[in-house]
Amino acid sequence: MKSENSKSRQIEVMFSSIAHRYDFLNRLLSGGRDRYWREKAVDRLNLFPGARFLDLAAGTGDVALEIAKRQDSDMRILASDLTLKMAVLGRKKILNQNLDRIIEFHLSAAENLPYKEKSFDGVTCAFGVRNFADYHIGISEMTRVTNKNGKVVILEFTTPQNKLFRSLYYFYFTRILPLIGGIISGNFDAYSYLPDSVLSFPDREKLKSIMEEAGLKDVSYKNLTFGIVSIHEGTKR
Ligand SMILES: C[S@@+](CC[C@H](N)C(=O)[O-])C[C@H]1O[C@@H](n2cnc3c(N)ncnc32)[C@H](O)[C@@H]1O
Repeated sequence: MKSENSKSRQIEVMFSSIAHRYDFLNRLLSGGRDRYWREKAVDRLNLFPGARFLDLAAGTGDVALEIAKRQDSDMRILASDLTLKMAVLGRKKILNQNLDRIIEFHLSAAENLPYKEKSFDGVTCAFGVRNFADYHIGISEMTRVTNKNGKVVILEFTTPQNKLFRSLYYFYFTRILPLIGGIISGNFDAYSYLPDSVLSFPDREKLKSIMEEAGLKDVSYKNLTFGIVSIHEGTKR
C-alpha cells in the first residue's frame, strides 16, 4: 500500500510538471494521430440519451470531450484524474466549449474510486492504465462501477508486431520522442518514462486476461496504426 501510494505520488508530480505542455506534445509527438485513437475508442461505447459515463485518468479531458460531442445534453460524463493540474486544464477546456453541464471533473485515484457499484453505462481509460500504481486493482474498480451490459474500454500504447516497422518505431519512441518531449516540457524524465512504461506494460493478451480476471466478458482488442496502440474492450455481465 505504501509503495502504491509512493508510485501514485511520483506519477502525480510528473504529470503536474508537464501538464502545461501535455496537449501540445500529444499532437506533435503523435503527428495528430492521438485524436483519431480517442475517436476510435469512443466508437466502442454504446451511446444513448440519459447514459452516464466515467472517463478515468481523464487528464485534460479529451476523451470526455469526444463523448460529449457525440450526444445530446441528456448524457452525463464524469471525468476523473489523480493530478489536479491536469484536471484544472481539462475543466478550462470544458468551460470554453460550454460543455460543463454535461461533463463534471473529479479528482480520484483509479485504485479507490469513490463511486457506487454499477454507476456508469460505460467506463473509458485512455493512456492511463499503464500509469496506475496497481492496474489489477484499477481495472477491477473500473469493472465494479460499470452497469450490467456496460462496457469498459481501454486505449493504451503497445508494441507494433511487424519487425521492420517495430525497429523504426522503437528508434523514434526511445530516442527521438524523449528528446523532443524533454526539450519542450522541460522534464526529460517524464518523456523517458513514457517509452519505459510502455515497454514494461503487459502485452495485449496479458491485458485481455487481466480484464477477464476483473470479471469482464467478451473481452477483445483491436490494433490501430500498425499496432502502436490498441483498444481493449469488455462487457460487464
Ligand atoms: C498520459 S495521461 C492520459 C490523459 C488522457 N486520458 C488522454 O487521453 O490524454 C495519464 C493520466 O493518468 C492519470 N493517472 C495516473 N495514475 C492514475 C491513477 N492511479 N488514478 C487516476 N488517474 C491516474 C495522470 O494524472 C494523467 O493525467
